[in-house]
Amino acid sequence: MLATERVLLLLISLLSFLFHCEHSLAFSLKDCTILYSENSKNISVTCAKRHLTAIPDDIPGNAVSLNLSLNGISNISKVDLRGLSKLEALYVKNNWILQIDDGTFADLVELKVLDLGENLLTALTKNMFQGLSKLETLSLDNNIISFISPVVFQPLVILRLVDLSNNYLHQISDIDYIVKLPTLQHLIITHNNFTLFQSDDLHVNTSNLLTLSLDSVKKFSITRDIFPHLQSLDLRGWSKDIEWEVELSVLTSDVFLPIPNLITLDLSNNKLRSLDFLAEAKLSALRWLTSVTMNCL
Ligand SMILES: *[C@@H]1O[C@H](CO)[C@@H](O)[C@H](O)[C@H]1NC(C)=O
Ligand SMILES: *[C@@H]1O[C@H](CO)[C@@H](O)[C@H](O)[C@H]1NC(C)=O
Ligand SMILES: *[C@@H]1O[C@H](CO)[C@@H](O)[C@H](O)[C@H]1NC(C)=O
Ligand SMILES: *[C@@H]1O[C@H](CO)[C@@H](O)[C@H](O)[C@H]1NC(C)=O
Ligand SMILES: *[C@@H]1O[C@H](CO)[C@@H](O)[C@H](O)[C@H]1NC(C)=O
Repeated sequence: MLATERVLLLLISLLSFLFHCEHSLAFSLKDCTILYSENSKNISVTCAKRHLTAIPDDIPGNAVSLNLSLNGISNISKVDLRGLSKLEALYVKNNWILQIDDGTFADLVELKVLDLGENLLTALTKNMFQGLSKLETLSLDNNIISFISPVVFQPLVILRLVDLSNNYLHQISDIDYIVKLPTLQHLIITHNNFTLFQSDDLHVNTSNLLTLSLDSVKKFSITRDIFPHLQSLDLRGWSKDIEWEVELSVLTSDVFLPIPNLITLDLSNNKLRSLDFLAEAKLSALRWLTSVTMNCL
């Protein structure tokens, strides 16, 4: 009897030690580090540069910022980010991501910033961004995206900036649904495989874009008033790439008539022979013009 009691007591103290131990280790994560924790309700976690191949399963549910960049993660599934409903910023830059399952971000109802740059995504599929109704900034640069589902951006009702630079997009109609988003202000689609940008190829009546960074097109034309608020236009050529040069050789003043509010215009690295067309373009708000470098003036 006495012996059993002693064993029981030992067991209880062992259990309470274990419990205490686990309790005090609650904030020590397997693969990640807590960067700061102003209060226990708001913490920032980094798991960057840890040779991870999957998202760790012990990310605290109260994390507001999570950095998973510079790892070897190849896919993200719905289970990986489950319950991270406080997360406001998620960085998964520079991994090997090929696959993101439908509904992966569904729990991330507070997410404002998502960085998926420098991965191996080939397509933005239908329900990939489901649930991201507070997302403002989406970085998808330096992937190999050549397909964008017409509905993938629909849940992103307050999106302001999309960076799709350095991808394999080749048809302007691929960006129809992005340009159409009423809240979108900044679109970066430099270094893709567009050769033509013609407003007639867009099935959009009006867009609220303020800045458009395009570059590397051989032909650019806007014939309709689809960008009434556009302030900054980047039409740089891409002549430093020896393998294949994409430059503008002709631009006429009528291109600028539907975008009279331009403040910044970059025409550098093209093969424009003259800038005389600008005199007739009536760009009375223009303050910054970059044009001379590498033009054949
Ligand atoms: C942490 O909480 C404070 C106060 O609630 C808030 O101002 C701050 O933006 C939060 N930090 C992050 C990274 O969200
Ligand atoms: C994420 O971590 C990497 C590696 O430490 C760092 O270079 C990068 O700036 C971090 N990203 C953010 C947004 O803090
Ligand atoms: C996702 O990656 C993990 C870790 O590399 C792997 O175990 C799992 O099989 C992968 N899942 C899919 C669907 O590719
Ligand atoms: C982009 O277009 C060029 C010229 O048409 C072509 O040589 C190249 O293979 C294309 N690249 C991709 C990734 O589609
Ligand atoms: C553009 O406007 C025309 C005429 O007002 C309308 O018939 C058409 O449906 C609109 N297109 C889009 C994509 O909103």
